Amino acid sequence: MSIRFDHSTPGDATLTVLGVETSCDETAAAVVRLDPDGRAEVLSSVVLSQIDQHAPFGGVVPEIAARAHVETIEAIVAGALAEANTPAEMLDGVAATAGPGLVGGVMVGLAFAKAMALALGKPLVAVNHLEGHAVSARLAGEAAYPFLLLLVSGGHCQLLEVRGIGDCRRLGSTIDDAAGEAFDKIGGALGLAYPAGPALERLAQGGDPERFALPRALLGRPGCDFSFSGLKTAAARIAQDLTSEADRRDLAAAAQAAIARQLAERTARAMDAYAERNDPACRRLVVAGGVAANGAIREALQDLARQRGFSFSAPPLAYCTDNGAMIALAGAERLVAGLIDDLDAEARPRWPLDEDAARRAPTHTPGRKGAKA
Ligand code: KG4
Ligand code: ZN
Repeated sequence: MSIRFDHSTPGDATLTVLGVETSCDETAAAVVRLDPDGRAEVLSSVVLSQIDQHAPFGGVVPEIAARAHVETIEAIVAGALAEANTPAEMLDGVAATAGPGLVGGVMVGLAFAKAMALALGKPLVAVNHLEGHAVSARLAGEAAYPFLLLLVSGGHCQLLEVRGIGDCRRLGSTIDDAAGEAFDKIGGALGLAYPAGPALERLAQGGDPERFALPRALLGRPGCDFSFSGLKTAAARIAQDLTSEADRRDLAAAAQAAIARQLAERTARAMDAYAERNDPACRRLVVAGGVAANGAIREALQDLARQRGFSFSAPPLAYCTDNGAMIALAGAERLVAGLIDDLDAEARPRWPLDEDAARRAPTHTPGRKGAKA
């Protein structure tokens, strides 16, 4: 049965929206206020990491994740509303991640949001997690549309032209692993706990990035796709024979530099494609997703943006990794655009931002459930 409320959102209203995020190993909720002029204010953001429960397994275990979301979602949402000093009745809408991600976890957050929307008589917004990352720099008042987005997380590595809410065009994507996956696997080979990105960044400090030569995948190749599996395998093999802490530091520095170099090189190509089209509006580069927390990567992209005459924005560190605030903001922007979902909206394990591009050129074998990203 499809239940749909008819909510019209006046364009001059300030909207207060709850965002719920449960697509991976963080149970998160936040309340965001969006002004009529498009300015966002985060009233609260609560994130509970399940990492301790997954760490013994070296990665996220879907069943453990889903169960942990069930156990904590109510308290996390209540905490976000209390911290924002916002009774649920005051909300203008309830947004939740509806995919892509681990479907058991996505179902928990989405079902919770549906129940709230139904009980409160408020509109539901089913948000694409990647769209949440895409708008995350806007939480800090940066990144006016349109912008070129490098989305780098544990599960995704894509270059997208973001023209507005719900309007993305994919320029490139990884043909194998995501950048965060490379950090996690190489870090794991160096004995760092999952997720290894932040620890690898710390280990790389003071290391010599020139000491080990690592493969430079796709260097000079046309297009904006990425590939990290060769680099990951080569670095993991070298890691096996290392004995000293200095060796480990050097390899961490080399791997981080190689990832940063590839991200910058492919992003430069996407920028050139813009320049060729001669669209003076497209002079903004945004990096988002967990890997955007990495200082060396931010620096490499900032340098590149300066060289190419682009502005550069990245979300505050707290909004790089998964959080509810980015889902609340995407939900609020969707509400303004009248993009409201039915209460029978489905949880989607796979859900590309640019569905046309994913159908035309799937980067992963689509399988029965459709293109992944
Ligand atoms: O966006 P996110 O929280 O989850 C996904 O949607 O995938 O990203 C998590 C990923 C992990 O692979 C983690 O190792 C990586 O982001 N990460 C980092 C850093 N902080 C998080 N990678 C490199 N340097 C960091 N400082
Ligand atoms: Zn994410």
